[in-house]
Amino acid sequence: MLQEFDKARLASAAPNEIGDALERGDIVKFTSCPIQLPTSEQLEVLRTELPNQLKRKNVSYHPEADRVTGLDDQSPIADLVYEVLSTHRDRITKCLQTLMPTLARNIRPGTCSFRPLEEKGRNLKPHASNELVHIDAGAYGATNGDRILRAFVNVNPTRDRVWASKGAFPDLFKQHGHAAGLYNDLTPTLERGVFGKFRTSLLNGMARIGLPLAPMLDSSPYDRVMRKFHNYMKDTPAFQQNTETDETFYFEPFATWIVLTDMVSHASLSGQHALVYTALVPLQDCRLQDLAPFNILRAAA
Ligand SMILES: [Fe+2]
Repeated sequence: MLQEFDKARLASAAPNEIGDALERGDIVKFTSCPIQLPTSEQLEVLRTELPNQLKRKNVSYHPEADRVTGLDDQSPIADLVYEVLSTHRDRITKCLQTLMPTLARNIRPGTCSFRPLEEKGRNLKPHASNELVHIDAGAYGATNGDRILRAFVNVNPTRDRVWASKGAFPDLFKQHGHAAGLYNDLTPTLERGVFGKFRTSLLNGMARIGLPLAPMLDSSPYDRVMRKFHNYMKDTPAFQQNTETDETFYFEPFATWIVLTDMVSHASLSGQHALVYTALVPLQDCRLQDLAPFNILRAAA
C-alpha cells in the first residue's frame, strides 16, 4: 500500500506511474519533499501561535473565497497564515500537475490547511474525529464521483505523524457494504434528480452573488452513499476494533505523501503540525475507471 519515491525513483518514474499508484489505492510518499516549503521561521510561527488562536478544528485557506477560516481576522498573524497557505497551495498544485500529467491535468484545488493540534486524544465527536479509520466523503460539497486527492506534509521538526489504514475502498465495500446499508441507497446512475439539480444551481447562484462557500453545502446521491459509509465506519466499534487488515504508517518530520482519500481508509493516530492540501480530480481523468468508488457503486446497483 505504501509506495516510496526517492529522488532516483522520481527521476525515472513513467508519466502515469504515480497517478496509477494512487488510483490502485496506494499511498505515495516522497522521501524528500518535492516542493519548496514555507520558511522555518514561518513554520515556527504557525506551530507556536496557531494552537492558541484556533477558532475551529483547523485553519484553512479557501480559494473560492480567497480567505482563511478558523482564525480571527484581527489575529496578528492572519496575513502570514494567508501567505503561507495560499503559497503552499499553489506550489502543491503545480507539483501534482508535473508529477501526474494525466490524473492532475484538470485538478481543482480546494482548501489548504494547517493542523496545529495533537491528533491523539482530541476527543472530537466521532464524525469529526481523525483518530477513527474512515474514507473521506461529503465535506467538499458535491463531488458527483470526482476524486478527493490530498497532499500532506508533516512539518513537525522532531515527531512522526502516524497513520493507520484498514485497506482500500474496493475491498472495504465488498466486506462492509451490506452491513453499512449502502445497497438501499444505490441507483443505477447515482445521478442527481430534478430537485438535486435545482439545489446545485441555487447554491452556485448564491456563490455568484457573494456567498462563495455556498456550494460546499451541495450533495448528490453518490456523495450521500459515501457519507453513509464514512459514518458507518466511524460509528461501528466492531469495524474500528477489528485490526486484521490494519497497516500502520510512520511519516517522519518533513515527509510528504499524497493519497486519494475517498479510496484509502485512514486515521491519524498521532502527530502534530501538518500542512494538508485538498483537491478534486475529475473522475473522467482517472485511467483505472473500474477501481473508482463511483463506478464500483454503480456496478453494484
Ligand atoms: Fe480523512
